[in-house]
Amino acid sequence: MEIVRVTNYEEMSEYAAELLFRKVQTQPNVVLGLATGGTPEGTYEAFIEKAKRNDLDLSQITTFNLDEYEGLASDHPNSYHAYMKEHLFHPLDLKSEQTHLPKGNAADLEAEAKSYEQLIEDYGGIDLQLLGIGENGHIGFNEPGTPHHSRTHIVELKESTREANARYFENKSEVPKRAITMGIASIMDSRCILLLASGERKKQAMKNLLEGDINETFPASILRSHPYVTIIADEEALSAVS
Ligand code: F6R
Repeated sequence: MEIVRVTNYEEMSEYAAELLFRKVQTQPNVVLGLATGGTPEGTYEAFIEKAKRNDLDLSQITTFNLDEYEGLASDHPNSYHAYMKEHLFHPLDLKSEQTHLPKGNAADLEAEAKSYEQLIEDYGGIDLQLLGIGENGHIGFNEPGTPHHSRTHIVELKESTREANARYFENKSEVPKRAITMGIASIMDSRCILLLASGERKKQAMKNLLEGDINETFPASILRSHPYVTIIADEEALSAVS
């Protein structure tokens, strides 16, 4: 596990964007795993700027997102589909065939979970998976207690996660109670992983991740057993780590 300590959110975003940029440059048909939330917004912004400035060829990349809320259509403003279109796909003019997210409003969610997992496999797996981390250690929407062998599945969101995400909705009651997410095993199959963490809010999670035991009660801890993980974290996020 490589830990890159940076000063703040801007530096984290710049560093992560540079890694993504180089990855696409050296492997133009790269399969990227992507995350939503506040953490990667700056990375996407910096990546778009770099890609445009350097005329980066993005025509062969494929993307798979980690998760989506249950019941939200892709054009719902709070869906992760909408987030990705706004923050990355539209600014980069990616074709819809290049980008994939689980469909939260699929009629049969179990079937959707299976076919999403299959699709990732059909593309040869994920080369680089971008991750944020929840305060309770979740990665994707894999909440504490999720089995390490889990694949893409439907989850009940913890109240703490719904509260943390309520900032994107009019009020907390609108935050869906369930979501569809890649599982822990799906994430661990990625050839390399880039986890980003910024701000004081993440300091306990980073301490647990770096100093705690590997167990299912703190989902991100499994990353310690992955051979190629890079963590880019700022000083606040690392402030509780000894
Ligand atoms: C989002 C995701 C989540 C977030 C986590 C942190 O696709 O999978 O695991 O990465 O909830 O969210 P932020 O970045 O908003 O603190």
